[in-house]
Amino acid sequence: MSLDIVILAAGQGTRMRSALPKVLHPVAGNSMLGHVIHSARQLQPKGIHVVIGHGAELVRDRLAADDLNFVMQDKQLGTGHAVAQALPAITADTVLVLYGDVPLIEVETLQRLLAKVSASQLGLLTVNLADPTGYGRIVRDEQGKVTAIVEHKDASEAQKAIKEGNTGILAMPAARLADWMGRLSNNNAQGEYYLTDVIAMAVADGLVVATEQPHDPMEVQGANDRRQLSELERHYQLRESRRLMALGVTLRDPARFDVRGEVTVGRDVLIDINVILEGKVVIEDDVQIGPNCVIKDSTLRKGVVIKANSHIEGAVMGEGSDAGPFARLRPGSVLEARAHVGNFVELKNAHLGEGAKAGHLTYLGDAQIGARSNIGAGTITCNYDGANKFRTVMGEDVFIGSNNSLVAPVEIEAGATTAAGSTITLAVEPGQLAVARARQRNIDGWKRPEKIKKS
Ligand code: UD1
Ligand code: CA
Repeated sequence: MSLDIVILAAGQGTRMRSALPKVLHPVAGNSMLGHVIHSARQLQPKGIHVVIGHGAELVRDRLAADDLNFVMQDKQLGTGHAVAQALPAITADTVLVLYGDVPLIEVETLQRLLAKVSASQLGLLTVNLADPTGYGRIVRDEQGKVTAIVEHKDASEAQKAIKEGNTGILAMPAARLADWMGRLSNNNAQGEYYLTDVIAMAVADGLVVATEQPHDPMEVQGANDRRQLSELERHYQLRESRRLMALGVTLRDPARFDVRGEVTVGRDVLIDINVILEGKVVIEDDVQIGPNCVIKDSTLRKGVVIKANSHIEGAVMGEGSDAGPFARLRPGSVLEARAHVGNFVELKNAHLGEGAKAGHLTYLGDAQIGARSNIGAGTITCNYDGANKFRTVMGEDVFIGSNNSLVAPVEIEAGATTAAGSTITLAVEPGQLAVARARQRNIDGWKRPEKIKKS
């Protein structure tokens, strides 16, 4: 079987009340349409055709990729009309229709649906709903065979009582499509070309309509407004939490945990409340993440500990290293094994060697710190002169006293020490002590100033 996928994404989404086209609204950090495309790709189709209309430019700009064919639908004349726009680009033998605002559809469900399609059979995804208001209803004959879909607005009272709704997702033999599309009419309550009318046509042509259901109705839930968007978000997060827990992660509270990207995890990982994982995050065995941490595009090796309220981005934390509470690792931060970053420490493009420590109130930018070196509290690398950035390079076993300013470019060699309060501007050689501060003077009999009396 070869497959073409058509994703309908031309609608405006008025109820979102937004300048952003509906399908670009995010669920878990990715646009709804992005989620649908991601699922579509996993089916390895010949082509993915995205029908765009409202906000077409923006949608195309945001999602452009070599494997996507964007098809313009100038006027939104209905779902049938939308699919017809993609018709000239269809070359496979099977066509699957998906929706840019139905982001949680599972690949496994689509595979079950596609398994039903042949030259003589359509696959239709339906869902049983307590309240199917607004949905097209699945009409079956006495033998239970599907004969048609009737839209809510066109349905009789008896048809409105049907609880089986049309999800809109269907898969059809492509050979018939051109013929069916050509026969669609807009003679109905909404004056639209309904894709759903192909069902009755297929039955009239002697094809069978086979149905499948999603395991979870949320898979086929669309988002028409922000409330539904938030429901999809919560559902996605719950699903992701369950996946991670099944892999060996303890979540202190799955309801207070968010994933906005792609996370891989090891075993015996502990994640406290209000943690957000963004982008590509790799978490190895025995990692512990404290409450209120944001971790983005980072790798946490075995046994890493991140304490409360830390912000970690674009960092690699080596085995047994730790950061926080209140640590900030910015892009290019690398901690080798057992390195330690304490509270109110910021790193940017900084490499801490094995066992190196920066315990308190420090900024290390564009810096190379050797193994076992210790950076005193309040130390700042002065890496920027207002025009250019410079590096601070430190050997192994260096000891930087508290409250140093290290004016880059500067090198402090292995085993060197700097005195507290120093402003280091010159290279320090191995084993030397650098003292770069004003010498202390003590003045005897000092008289403190007195308050000036007001007249
Ligand atoms: C459609 C189905 C209905 C089903 C429901 C499920 C039809 C005629 N009806 O109804 O049976 O129960 O979905 O939610 O198909 N779109 C375009 N171009 C258009 C029209 C729509 O791209 O010209 C897109 C919309 O952006 C939207 C999707 O297609 O993402 C569905 O369109 P909509 O008009 O919302 O269909 P429903 O009335 O919900
Ligand atoms: Ca709809």
